[in-house]
Amino acid sequence: MNKRINVILFCLGIIGMIACGGNGEKKKESSGSTPSSESAGSTEAAILDFKSDGSKGVGPVTAIEHKPFDAQLANKGVELFVSKCAMCHNFERTLVGPSLDGVVKRRTPEWIMNMMLDPATMLEKDADAIALSKDFSSPMISLGLQQEEARAILEYLRERNSAAK
Ligand code: HEC
Repeated sequence: MNKRINVILFCLGIIGMIACGGNGEKKKESSGSTPSSESAGSTEAAILDFKSDGSKGVGPVTAIEHKPFDAQLANKGVELFVSKCAMCHNFERTLVGPSLDGVVKRRTPEWIMNMMLDPATMLEKDADAIALSKDFSSPMISLGLQQEEARAILEYLRERNSAAK
């Protein structure tokens, strides 16, 4: 009788160990690999590629290379954006200028760079900029940016426009 109970307990013990062992491994898998690979995958996949079709606007920039997202460049861009653009633009609503939410999806990178570098020429010669300006009482002004500075701001717009809502 006693022996039998011991055998049963022994078996239950083994089953318990196997069950726990299995669970433990599963937990490790899900806490270890799933979240990290998910987040890395989604941030990378979620960063927008630039638009390659559509008007490039009128101005100094005729073609930009479509490179992978550069976080360091975007960090430079955010500082410039705060000091040069934020008084007229944010990503939520119209200020002096339009919300820049989704602008990277609407415009080619060349168009956006030309708008940053030479808004006066864009507002005089580019049909899309002219159409847009009809809704705004004061025009975008030249900010005296270097091309690399405009490129950094563009990278920030790319990052900002990629953020999930
Ligand atoms: C003095 C206010 C002002 C400043 C500063 C300014 N903008 Fe603008 N921006 C405007 C206005 C107004 C428009 C709409 C076109 C127009 O009427 O000139 C515009 C349009 C744009 C557009 C086109 C948006 C679209 O929907 O197609 C982009 C892109 C843009 N600005 C980016 C920038 C960036 C980047 C900076 C900083 C480097 C900047 N702007 C600084 C006022 C400003």
